[in-house]
Amino acid sequence: MATSRALLASRNYFSSVIFTNQKCNTTPTPCQSQSINSSRYLLKKTLCDINLIRGLHTRSKDAVKYDWQNAALIVVGACKGIGAHVLKMALNEGVESVTNLDINEKAGFAMQYELNQKYSDKNKVRFLKCDITDEHQHIDTLQNLLVDRRKTYVIVNNAGLIEQRPDMSKEAIDSNVVAIVTSSVTALELMRKDEKGSGGAIINLAPVSILCHLPYFQCYNATKSSILTFNMSLGDEEFFSKTGVRVLSVCYGATDEGLVPIVNAKDKEEIEKLMKTKEGLLTKEKAAAKAVIEIYKTGRTGSTWLSKEIKPAEDITEFIRNIYSDTTEIQCYYRVSIGVIMYDLKDKVAVVTGASNGIGASFVREILEEGIKHVRLLDIDKKTGNALQDELRQKYGKDKVKFVKCDVTDDGQFFKALEDAKKDNGYLDLLVNNAGVAEQDSFARIRKLIEINITALINGTLKAIEMMRTDKGGRGGAIINVCSVGSLIPVSPMFLYSTSKRAAMHFTTCVGRVPCENTDVRVMAACIGVTDTAMLEKLTCYTKDLYEKAQKVLASHPMQSSTAVARCMVEMYQKGGPASIWLIRGGLPAQDVTAQLDKADEEMEAIIRKID
Ligand SMILES: NC(=O)c1ccc[n+]([C@@H]2O[C@H](COP(=O)([O-])OP(=O)(O)OC[C@H]3O[C@@H](n4cnc5c(N)ncnc54)[C@H](O)[C@@H]3O)[C@@H](O)[C@H]2O)c1
Repeated sequence: MATSRALLASRNYFSSVIFTNQKCNTTPTPCQSQSINSSRYLLKKTLCDINLIRGLHTRSKDAVKYDWQNAALIVVGACKGIGAHVLKMALNEGVESVTNLDINEKAGFAMQYELNQKYSDKNKVRFLKCDITDEHQHIDTLQNLLVDRRKTYVIVNNAGLIEQRPDMSKEAIDSNVVAIVTSSVTALELMRKDEKGSGGAIINLAPVSILCHLPYFQCYNATKSSILTFNMSLGDEEFFSKTGVRVLSVCYGATDEGLVPIVNAKDKEEIEKLMKTKEGLLTKEKAAAKAVIEIYKTGRTGSTWLSKEIKPAEDITEFIRNIYSDTTEIQCYYRVSIGVIMYDLKDKVAVVTGASNGIGASFVREILEEGIKHVRLLDIDKKTGNALQDELRQKYGKDKVKFVKCDVTDDGQFFKALEDAKKDNGYLDLLVNNAGVAEQDSFARIRKLIEINITALINGTLKAIEMMRTDKGGRGGAIINVCSVGSLIPVSPMFLYSTSKRAAMHFTTCVGRVPCENTDVRVMAACIGVTDTAMLEKLTCYTKDLYEKAQKVLASHPMQSSTAVARCMVEMYQKGGPASIWLIRGGLPAQDVTAQLDKADEEMEAIIRKID
């Protein structure tokens, strides 16, 4: 984490929030500059805390209700239009106080006076002149405003610049991107519960045109569209569980007043014609403001809402997520966020156990595609292993692959295979303890299951750490221990398998921490869901009755291919931190669940300490 913070600090302000579309094979450059202004610092800090931007595939639980009473609202750009309506509607909802940040002093003070008169409270509404394109002024204003750590603040970022001329692109970026990022990150840092704040919400507004292609307002649309990605990233549910700050987006159609002042008459006519032909491109200011009021009450963090015409806001989060998963060919492979340390498989030497079939074989194929220098396949299944070796040698070259018949339960065989891989190639960088069985219908099989799934995995891990550790002459490396969803939750009908996989995960967490400090060896666990391999056919249970129940449990989980699993394992190799635990399920991108498990551990620790 410390290294990741340092590396991230060297990153450019903007690049930190942009998703790249390229396969990542570079390690970030070392920290170059520490001369940071405060918004950069805050952004970096926040993104470091998110650690991995993984908002696109998080799922939320049941909706929670929030109410406006006791909230202190800050609207950026509330002198007119949607912002003004939001401000007034929130007052009707009983909000404790509202602050309008705008540059229009005359309108701002007039509104402040009028509304304070109406509510007979001179502190109810406040206008503060603030030019949000002046980054320092913007941050100072927020820092002076969000001072009461016991208060729940709600920030609505409504201001934006629609005018576009060639000389105005910088201004558009400043107000439509930089200001939103600055406001959101500054506010988040001041509100977050894990730093003694009370949580809150950030609602960022964007035009509906970012969801479709329009031949007008290119700069406006481009800059505003960044909000969507930014919000999904910042609105990550796991991050929210720490900060208590929801991040929400509302996309609204063009309002009656929106276009009027900024285009010439001919363009305006054409634009209006176009708008009328497309359902949803027009809305009413009040409807958009109402959407903001309503989504505050129920919106899940990271959600995106559509406000069109006069209809109630519609939650389009899943729709947006699906667009990302459809258009991003292989999400877990390419969707990479800058700011995370990336490990590269090129020129590495790997050993994979249980590599003749299923997940092991698919992983071998994936890492060869990634440009690995050499992979050694260990398995007891000689026939299939040799056939796979021959096939892969034809495709990638003789030196790239070697099959070795090896029973991992025999330490002598296993350790020799590891030593040989290192001797033949100069070093060892990666061990994947993948060999595993699920037959558990006799004592002999149960003993074998424990030997393969637990003992061999532990012995292989300890041996490989010794061979790779930098403090003993190695060059560091990684170990991926193949676990299961059954490591995370008890799968009772397969109780011995589930127990063995839990043990493997627990061992990974423990050994990956303190014993691996200063070794530069990352030990990680892949908790894999139901996968279409021969293991499912070979499965046996302790009793016939349990077997039937196990089949029902397996059928209730989504099936994924071994290829999808293997890609996720590549992603976890690239991004995973020491002792990280990853969930690979349902063909979805790999999800780092370390923080959730840490939290569960902390809760358990608290219970244990209470007993003391
Ligand atoms: N298939 C699933 O649904 C699923 C789900 C979660 C986790 N997993 C885990 O994934 C790993 C791979 O399983 P799979 O689904 O690809 O199964 P698989 O049966 O297709 O492959 C397992 C491989 O391990 C080899 N093997 C078994 N005993 C061995 C030993 N003593 N020494 C060396 N090799 C041995 C087998 O010959 C086989 O090639 C296992 O650890 C399994 O527990 C599988």
